[in-house]
Amino acid sequence: MASTGIITVSDRSSKGERTDASGPVIRDWAEKMGFKIDEEIIIPDDTEIIKETLIKLSDRGVNLIFTTGGTGFAPRDNTPEATKAVLEKEAPGFAEAMRRKSMEITPHAMLSRAVSGIRKGSLIINLPGSPKAVKENLEFIEKAIPHALELLADRVTDC
Ligand code: MTE
Repeated sequence: MASTGIITVSDRSSKGERTDASGPVIRDWAEKMGFKIDEEIIIPDDTEIIKETLIKLSDRGVNLIFTTGGTGFAPRDNTPEATKAVLEKEAPGFAEAMRRKSMEITPHAMLSRAVSGIRKGSLIINLPGSPKAVKENLEFIEKAIPHALELLADRVTDC
């Protein structure tokens, strides 16, 4: 069973000033997909902390790691930079699909700088911060995720 890590990136939620509504949306989705939750964590929008958390989960062999939040244009939106810094391979298809499909819902989708890629066998995907955006984006990418995880685990001989 594939394992999932959920990282909510939010200064306010990490200080307990705002309830994290987006992490639970990812958890519900992962359970629906039949994935095991490895860890759910709320961290501030700090580049080093985001990098350390991504490294910790991927070193541990978590198969699928989501971040939510910090992909926009605000000064403290650092998630894509932290993610890019730890990726070994880019997997831009997920971020491309999310922006393209989300543009049909809101032009604000072009403000998400989300990236996706691979580190040590973990697929890492940035999601935007709002629960609505998380739900919509997960629906756009979910059909490709099981096959992606099979490929990453080297369990596929034919596509
Ligand atoms: N994508 C979808 N599908 N639905 C949305 O409501 N919101 C957008 C965008 N992507 C949105 C979306 C908005 S308003 C912003 S600012 C960017 O994601 C970045 O969000 P973040 O800074 O919370 O990561």
